[in-house]
Parts: sequence; C-alpha cells; structure tokens
Amino acid sequence: MADLDGKSSEKNKEFFTSVPQETPGFFLKGSHQYDWGLKNRLSRVFHPKDGRTLMLAFDHGYFQGPTTGLERVDQTILPLEPYVDCLMLTRGIQRAVVPASTQKAIALRASGGTSMVSPMEEWEGSYGEGKTIKLGRPGYEPLSNESIACSIEEAVRLNACVLAVQVFIGSQYERQTLKNMTDLIDQANRYGIAVMGVTAVGRAMARTPQYFRLATRIMAELGCHLVKCYYTEKEFDTVTSCCPVPIVIAGGKKLPELDALKMSYNALQQGASGVDMGRNIFQAEDPIAMVQAVQQLVHGGLTPVKAHNLYLELKAKKKGARKK
Ligand code: R5P
Repeated sequence: MADLDGKSSEKNKEFFTSVPQETPGFFLKGSHQYDWGLKNRLSRVFHPKDGRTLMLAFDHGYFQGPTTGLERVDQTILPLEPYVDCLMLTRGIQRAVVPASTQKAIALRASGGTSMVSPMEEWEGSYGEGKTIKLGRPGYEPLSNESIACSIEEAVRLNACVLAVQVFIGSQYERQTLKNMTDLIDQANRYGIAVMGVTAVGRAMARTPQYFRLATRIMAELGCHLVKCYYTEKEFDTVTSCCPVPIVIAGGKKLPELDALKMSYNALQQGASGVDMGRNIFQAEDPIAMVQAVQQLVHGGLTPVKAHNLYLELKAKKKGARKK
C-alpha cells in the first residue's frame, strides 16, 4: 500500500486547494437537473457542441409495413447511418438489420398495436397528411388505440437512449396514450432512459400553433424528456418557447428537397433542437446526398440554399461517377 506506508511522497501529491472544482451546467434545455446516465444518453442524441440533433426516423413500418423507401432497410437506410446522430427505429429492424457495432444513439419505438388498416376515424397518426386513407374498415380498432409495445428491459437490452411513444391529444384514446407515455416515463426514469412524446395529428385537429402548444406542453408537463411535433408556418417560436424541454420536428410528407431544408432551417431558427426526419430523407431522389445536406444544415451552419447546393453537387457527383 504505497500511499499508506507513510514514506511515499506526501510532498508529490497535488490537491489544487486554490482551484475550486467546477460545477458546469448542462447544455440541453430543461435537462440540467437529471441524473448522470440520462444526461449522458441525451448527449449522445443531441450534440453537446450545438445542442442539436439529426435523428433519422425509419420506424414507419410499425403501423404501415414496408413504406416506400423502407422496403429494404439494409439497402437504403444503413448507408445513411454515418451522417446522423440517432437512429429512430423499431426493435425488429434494430435486431434484424442494424449492426450492433453502430456508435449511433438509438431512439426505440415503444408504442404500437394498431395499423393502417385500422379504421382511421378522425385520425391519421403522426402522418397528418390531410388525405383520407381508405383502408379503414368498420369494426376495426382505431389507430389511436395504441399500447406500450416494448418493455423497459428490452430497451435496456437494446441500449436505447430514447423511447418514442405516440400521443393522440384530443382523440378517443387520448387518456390511454397519455397513460402509455407516463407509464413509460416512470419505467424509463428508473434506468436513465429518455422518453420522447410524439405528437399525432388528427384531421379533426388543425395543425395550428395553438394545438402544438397544447400537445407539447401537456407531454412535457407529464414528464417527457423531449417532444416531437410538426413545424407550423406561423408562430412556431411560441411552440418551442412554452415547451420546457427540447422539441424536434417531424419531417412529414415528402416535399421538394429545398422546401424540406427551408422547413428544417426555419424550425431550428425558431428554437427547435433538431429534426427527426424520415421520408424527406429516405424518399429523396438521392437520399445519401440529402442526409448530408440536412446534416450540414443542422450542425454545419449552412443556409437552406447552401445546403440545397450541396445536395445538388453530391447528387451530380454520384451521377457522374455512375456514367464513368
Ligand atoms: C411515425 O409515426 C413515425 O414516428 C415517424 O418516425 C415520423 O412520422 C417521422 O417520419 P417522417 O419524417 O417521415 O414524418
């Protein structure tokens, strides 16, 4: 016991008695009073240098099967992995397709139990594309009738940083989906895992700042660590401002690439902490170019026009390389 033998080098010790130990804050909105493990997981999702995240959402299959662009996740999504901070997926795809060697944070879909062929009643899930989905049949369970679809032990086994749960504020199953969320939060808090409430928008609900202020604030008040919602053209800064935890925006239906970049940029300028984008990346004409453009917009400070130019350059380069 070198330190206890009385001879060894008391004089060589350095106690830095004149240097107060630092008590640094935490970079992420509303997250400064969490425990170490939860902060560490959030720091894998949101980059500490700018507090932002690019999450790649490809969990759509959990209720709509092989979505366009996700027919073969190994072929279309894995090449995008190097450019994002976080993979938002289902446990089925995680185990079957995503290499366990990935260094990316995992946001695991943890609610489910209904499908596209459930009657849509007045709801469209998080899709909210304003079109009537004609697959619903009378007598089926409504889309909002979700349950928790993943145990906390599974989340730990799969090394999730975030659990994603759909919340249908204003729907027939509002109470149940909020209960799914609060139950998951109680379980996830025991292990330092974050829960992301995902705002599902129904046709009965206009996509207004009022609705998103209400929905995101309710989820945050009930304990969500982060919230996902749609961007609104007007007053989006009021949505982010009155939500005490980080908001990430959903990409929504496929837009022209420049429009998707503009929407992401505007959301970030108005207080969003990142994007959780799916179709606008994996359904782009060149998804690998698009993910790099979004990455440079989120973390590299590019404007939408510059990010779009980057997209076009990368796309053209690939086409050129193919011709050779
Ligand atoms: C659907 O419910 C999922 O949560 C998707 O991950 C979400 O809608 C984001 O994907 P997209 O950008 O395609 O809207």
